[in-house]
Amino acid sequence: MTKRALITGITGQDGSYLAELLLSKGYEVHGLVRRSSSFNRGRIDPISEADPEAGKRLHLHYGDMTDGVSLVNLVRTIEPHEVYNLAAQSHVKVSFEMPEYTASADAIGTVRLLEAIRSANLECRFYQASTSEMFGATPPPQGESTAFYPRSPYGAAKLYAHWVTVNYREAYDMFAVSGILFNHESPRRGETFVTRKITMAVARIAAGLQDELVLGNLDAVRDWGYAKEYVEGMWRMLQHDAPETFVLGTGVGTSVREFCQTSFEHVGLDWQKYVTHDDRYERPTEVDALIADPSKSRDVLGWEAKTHATDLARLMVDADVEALVTER
Ligand code: NAP
Ligand code: GDD
Repeated sequence: MTKRALITGITGQDGSYLAELLLSKGYEVHGLVRRSSSFNRGRIDPISEADPEAGKRLHLHYGDMTDGVSLVNLVRTIEPHEVYNLAAQSHVKVSFEMPEYTASADAIGTVRLLEAIRSANLECRFYQASTSEMFGATPPPQGESTAFYPRSPYGAAKLYAHWVTVNYREAYDMFAVSGILFNHESPRRGETFVTRKITMAVARIAAGLQDELVLGNLDAVRDWGYAKEYVEGMWRMLQHDAPETFVLGTGVGTSVREFCQTSFEHVGLDWQKYVTHDDRYERPTEVDALIADPSKSRDVLGWEAKTHATDLARLMVDADVEALVTER
């Protein structure tokens, strides 16, 4: 039997890697996309171009996490065996400027989707894209039983989504999984997240196209892994014999400053000559340090991060250098 999966957020970083993974496993993949006046399928169109046969099993549907009717109709039409809820307003700084929209898309959007599945009476496994931002001010290491203390409207919205996922698991016996993922990056990372902002700037500075990189807090510590590896962890969570909560991370903390240093050094430059500071990239409340305790995922799912921050910085710089060459 061909398994059907529905991915919300398929046009994003993780959605595109997950779609590739599921197609490679023989799934029929359905993706929710929102209408945009400009092109927003740059990460997923190459999937069908690279493998037209797999592309025939990839179907896109318009909808929005803030529009419950579209979710109900989609779930009833597709009758998916697995739903991966990756759609979100995922930028922490932006969530301070758009707290209400962030809550609607990230928190209420999740319960809209859970209700769509429940009301359709489907035997369907559900994955919720939870985040280490929910730990916020609680010091590392952070694992499945660490206390939550979100520090942004984004973190608070995701915490609601996490708890409502747990509640639907307990109240309705749904196979509802919460994957608490620490930061994961790639050459497909959005350009306003700090790693990609750095690696793109490094490529442009090395090519003589830019002479400065303006950043905010360099002291923040994050546990950066490689997105391509993390989508395998999401899939494994839904293949496990019971619905649970799992943390994915590398277990290694790296500061923004260190990530900068590694990225600039990779092209033979001294970061201190190019990086300047502007308060506009600081947040009203910051999350100082996120470092995972990923032991449960290793022991139960056999999942382990292979790529850590140093190699990640190098591979992202290489990709951005290469992209500039192709562009020119
Ligand atoms: P991303 O690149 O920002 O992608 C977000 C996706 O959500 C995009 O496809 C976006 O569509 C879609 N989306 C946003 N608002 C929507 C709405 N109202 N209705 C429908 N779709 C909407 O994020 P990501 O890095 O792939 O992360 C995937 C998920 O994991 C997110 O939920 C994020 O919060 C969570 N997460 C990420 C990390 C990480 O480090 N990357 C860590 C923990 C958790 P457009 O393309 O149209 O904008
Ligand atoms: N974006 C950004 N831009 N961040 C900066 C900058 C800058 O110019 N300068 C310093 N930073 C610092 C931020 O203050 C933060 O402490 C750290 O770099 C990482 O910022 P982001 O890359 O924006 O990621 P994030 O950790 O806030 O959120 C990401 O990871 C979460 C998981 O922990 C996002 O992907 C979230 O969606 C995800 O849930």
